[in-house]
Amino acid sequence: MGPLTLLGFALLWAGLGRAEVVPDFSTCKQFFYGGTEPQGFNHTQQAKICQKYENQHHFATLYDKQSRIPVWSAYTLHAGKCSKKTSETWKVEPQLSGEQEKEMKMERDVRNKTALKNNQATHADYEKTGYDRGHLNPSSFQCNEGQNATYTLTNAAPMDPCFNRDRWSELERNLKNQLTKNCTEQQGKAFLVTGVVPNTRQYKIPIEKNDQRRGKVQDASRVVVPSHVWTAVCCEHSTNNKKFSFAFLGVNTPGKILESLNITELNQRLRELYKAPSIQLFKDDCNENSRLSKDVLSEITKELLDDPTPDWTEQDPKRKKYQ
Ligand SMILES: *[C@@H]1O[C@H](CO)[C@@H](O)[C@H](O)[C@H]1NC(C)=O
Ligand SMILES: *[C@@H]1O[C@H](CO)[C@@H](O)[C@H](O)[C@H]1NC(C)=O
Ligand SMILES: *[C@@H]1O[C@H](CO)[C@@H](O)[C@H](O)[C@H]1NC(C)=O
Ligand SMILES: *[C@@H]1O[C@H](CO)[C@@H](O)[C@H](O)[C@H]1NC(C)=O
Repeated sequence: MGPLTLLGFALLWAGLGRAEVVPDFSTCKQFFYGGTEPQGFNHTQQAKICQKYENQHHFATLYDKQSRIPVWSAYTLHAGKCSKKTSETWKVEPQLSGEQEKEMKMERDVRNKTALKNNQATHADYEKTGYDRGHLNPSSFQCNEGQNATYTLTNAAPMDPCFNRDRWSELERNLKNQLTKNCTEQQGKAFLVTGVVPNTRQYKIPIEKNDQRRGKVQDASRVVVPSHVWTAVCCEHSTNNKKFSFAFLGVNTPGKILESLNITELNQRLRELYKAPSIQLFKDDCNENSRLSKDVLSEITKELLDDPTPDWTEQDPKRKKYQ
């Protein structure tokens, strides 16, 4: 068989894999506010993953097999203390490579390495690139098996290390703190969706020519770098005036631009960024107009602004940073 025939088989394989293994999110509804998944994301190469680890579902991811980064992960904030130690061992999704197994596992344990590489990012894609494997569902929001489960490359995208380790992780810390006090400890349940926008130039992690382990050039530069990272938050509560929501949108550069928005605004901004006809992250706006939404958001932004990191000058002057 010549290389073209092989390529044909690879494409056929990818197509079969998609049809077989990613039907819908029916086993993952508990991670969506109101049981409804985000609407309007319409990538041709998308795969729906109910993230399974140790025989349990932990969160949901919409994955783009072409860019080899997720579109979003939907998850809830784990309430209560963690009892077990976690391991930061990154895993991959065997189902994306045509395997029957429904659980994430170690890359070395995936049999068909070609199918693996065709459909998702691998460890080699991130090695020595200068980019972080940025979590969408943050490990700090989960416990025990759920925390281990966040370490799958299908829940990660290349993030600029300054953005990821400084501004974004600081947001995650403050957000977790506020959601614990003002949502889960008040008998609410926090639903979150975190996503990344592929940059419009299809800019990919560059190859390092000298890195022998990277193999052939056409195998290298494969993973699209996101231009933006976003998070939408909804605290669901049986008492309507204890429900609240808001969102954040960050630019994946060392400038660490981060702005706060309401859900309607984020839907609108994502519609522009993804060039989609319409986007709806939650089934409704989850009380975005309430006093509580504004108050909790202002407590978070106040904490962020109190941070001494002097990088606010680099923001895009056309956009407000915090309301
Ligand atoms: C979204 O997907 C549906 C069904 O596959 C298709 O009919 C529609 O044209 C797609 N829309 C866009 C904007 O790609
Ligand atoms: C997390 O993963 C490590 C390594 O695979 C394992 O030893 C540990 O038991 C796991 N922890 C939980 C809570 O599943
Ligand atoms: C959402 O934000 C926009 C822009 O700040 C504002 O015009 C709109 O009134 C807000 N919506 C609600 C319901 O607060
Ligand atoms: C959030 O919770 C803290 C601690 O209980 C409380 O002091 C604060 O007022 C709450 N914030 C809002 C906006 O209710």
